[in-house]
Amino acid sequence: MRSLFDKHNFAFKWTFAEFEGAEALYGWCIERVIAAYKDIADTFHKTGLVVEAAHEQAVLRSVTVTQGNGADLKHLSDASIAHVCMDPPYYDNVMYAELADFFYVWEKRTLGHLLPEYFTGEVTDKENEAVANPARFAAFGRKKKELADADYEAKMTAIFAECHRVLRDDGVLTVMFTHKRAEAWDTLGTALLEAGFTIETSWPVNTESEHSLHQARLNSAASTIMLVCRKRMTKPVEQIFFEDIESDVRQASREALVRFERSGLSGVDLLLSTYGPAMSVISGHWPVYSSRASEDGTMQLLRPEEALDAARSEVARLQLNRIVGHSAQFEPFTDFTLLAWHTFKAAEFGFDDARRLALNTGGLDVDDLVRAKIVEKKAGTVRLREPQERVVRGSSASMAGVNPVAEHFDHPIDAVHTVCYIADMDGLTSAKAFLDRTSLTKDRGFRDCLQGLINAVPRVKAQGEWVVPLAGILDRLVTAYLPDVVLPAVAAEPKTYVQGVLSEAG
Ligand SMILES: C[S@@+](CC[C@H](N)C(=O)[O-])C[C@H]1O[C@@H](n2cnc3c(N)ncnc32)[C@H](O)[C@@H]1O
Repeated sequence: MRSLFDKHNFAFKWTFAEFEGAEALYGWCIERVIAAYKDIADTFHKTGLVVEAAHEQAVLRSVTVTQGNGADLKHLSDASIAHVCMDPPYYDNVMYAELADFFYVWEKRTLGHLLPEYFTGEVTDKENEAVANPARFAAFGRKKKELADADYEAKMTAIFAECHRVLRDDGVLTVMFTHKRAEAWDTLGTALLEAGFTIETSWPVNTESEHSLHQARLNSAASTIMLVCRKRMTKPVEQIFFEDIESDVRQASREALVRFERSGLSGVDLLLSTYGPAMSVISGHWPVYSSRASEDGTMQLLRPEEALDAARSEVARLQLNRIVGHSAQFEPFTDFTLLAWHTFKAAEFGFDDARRLALNTGGLDVDDLVRAKIVEKKAGTVRLREPQERVVRGSSASMAGVNPVAEHFDHPIDAVHTVCYIADMDGLTSAKAFLDRTSLTKDRGFRDCLQGLINAVPRVKAQGEWVVPLAGILDRLVTAYLPDVVLPAVAAEPKTYVQGVLSEAG
């Protein structure tokens, strides 16, 4: 028997079973809450933030649990709350109310006898639920998704505004932020700013479980970010435009990158960790106006996306220098390939992540990358092509791709991929002949790109085989002919055991 909600939806299963919701569920929930509370208390204890005496003493205080719409906290008076902590829904990620009906009908007939005020509806309240649920707008046909998104934004804005009302002037609002859809930063960010909050600090919390590099990972972020917000108390004396604070946004992103990398974040999570500090700069100056006027020529409020674009391009510039080992300049196709390997650590990643990375590498869009045979578009994802999938016919250097008969290359990544292609197809001696003929080893762009690619493509072996074949080709080429290029250590992927080989594992 398998539980129905493994995937947070009603996907068909062979069996439909869940917790017995009348009694067993509560024991389990309470157990989980106590375990989490204990972990939190232990963490404080270990960090020395809680002194022994306080830790031992029971705090006797009454707790009131209420249930209802976060946009309507009428039982709380203005400026009365010290801390609001929120883990909001993210667009259409989970349809909580629909799923909760599964239990609601049973709980109504059990818990409902004790707490009838929780069970006034026939089923759960879907009207006030802050999720982007296109099913609720089915009557509007093709517009249903757009309307569902707008409904979600409006509800989240109302909820943040209500939090602002009940929060004390010196109070704190903590919002958990995850990143399934990048627009969340724009929407929830705007809602927070418009409700009158500044973002003081952001804490990325790594929740990643170990993935196997064998599986192409759809690299949505694994970390959650806690945004620590306060009421904005000052009004700017003059109108602020984005260009007035852009350099501060870039500096905050650079500093965040260095800080969070030191704490062990990498890839998309590292990139995301720079968004909070970037948002923090604009929130401190809000309202900030966009550098671009609207169509009718009037000033328009900045969308956080514009600031995050600046943060991303700053991070891209810094990361490219890191990948190569010194300050390096390429062109957008090479930049994209190096940054994509470095950021996603896999050939396949989400379309939206690709679109944003492309935008921040010379304003490319994904179709430019498809035309240059850098990536292949798939449903909802893109995949970096292998050198042998990038071969072009003809000898025009301006045509992007792998070209064994070319005399020279406009894009360093094409030159490196061409050498790799020849080495793989015809052997290392042919690759050497090609390098000699084209004098590529004397070309700075080629050497930097080669070093960058070696550093960016995961050098991981599993059971003696390179997980990413390109890493193996680069390794052989460099070992044979390019002694000046630095080869980083090879990591071994932990062996995974499947049923049937368990006995071999001892
Ligand atoms: C990301 S979940 C929070 C999960 C929670 N942190 C936990 O560990 O169980 C978001 C929650 O917001 C609730 N929610 C949705 N719309 C709401 C609204 N208008 N007011 C209050 N809560 C709402 C959903 O029912 C869901 O339980």
